[in-house]
Amino acid sequence: MERYQGKKVVIIGATSGMGLATAKMLLDGGARVLVTGRSKAGVESAQKELGNSGVVVASDARSLTEIDALASRVKAEFDTFDLLFVNAGFAVFAPLENTTEAMYDEMFNLNAKGPFFAVQKLAPLINRGGAVVLTTSVANVKGMPGVAAYGAAKAALRSFARVLAAELLPREIRVNAVTPGPIDTPILNKAFPEKDAAAEVARQMREANPMKRFGTPEEIAKAALFLAFEATFTTGAELPVDGGWSQL
Ligand SMILES: NC(=O)c1ccc[n+]([C@@H]2O[C@H](COP(=O)([O-])OP(=O)(O)OC[C@H]3O[C@@H](n4cnc5c(N)ncnc54)[C@H](OP(=O)(O)O)[C@@H]3O)[C@@H](O)[C@H]2O)c1
Repeated sequence: MERYQGKKVVIIGATSGMGLATAKMLLDGGARVLVTGRSKAGVESAQKELGNSGVVVASDARSLTEIDALASRVKAEFDTFDLLFVNAGFAVFAPLENTTEAMYDEMFNLNAKGPFFAVQKLAPLINRGGAVVLTTSVANVKGMPGVAAYGAAKAALRSFARVLAAELLPREIRVNAVTPGPIDTPILNKAFPEKDAAAEVARQMREANPMKRFGTPEEIAKAALFLAFEATFTTGAELPVDGGWSQL
């Protein structure tokens, strides 16, 4: 029998990067997968990559109306499901003096508020014994210049993992966070559209990392699926996948 046979999984933010890698790993293992993304181009390319076996839905992870619509779609596709992986996120890099109210709100809406209400609205459909995995960031715990609003929003998400783990315990749903360090995905080029700037930030991150490299999306996928399906005595925790950056 395939590793994830019979499992039904919803991934919010999986049209590229680590979410997409997780969706592919699940499909390869026999799971049914519904993923979301925001941009039309991302939704179309993910549908091509996942083929007919993956359901790809356009849904803005910041919008409560769209999260409600997503819950209805999930109910129609799956009725109930086993894993909610809340992975959509983005980092705006700006120092204190350049951070606008709009940037601040964007960071909290996407990285904290949206995920909170996604869990609220989708948890009722998660089977007993199921799991929630939230994607936080090494920026939760590192004082990295330029990511105050992003780091604080992800720290809020890390805090949700503890409280929601306690609240969902009676339904036997575990809630954990996977905490990436620098991972080789399209996010850096989205944050720094100028090619030289992205390359310089990547160089600095590689240099600062104890393992002197970026992680791969598949390394996050393996950790998220470990938390979801194998770490059955673990809840409210965070698993750093960061080359040792937060610990060494
Ligand atoms: N890569 C890293 O170094 C790193 C480090 C620490 C934490 N993280 C976190 O890891 C997660 C995944 O990032 P990634 O590196 O894999 O980036 P990515 O390749 O840019 O993937 C992000 C995914 O989230 C989706 N998304 C973004 N905004 C959305 C919105 N408003 N509504 C719905 N979907 C949305 C994107 O879809 P669209 O492209 O269509 O918007 C995409 O599918 C994020 O939460 C990020 O903050 C990444």
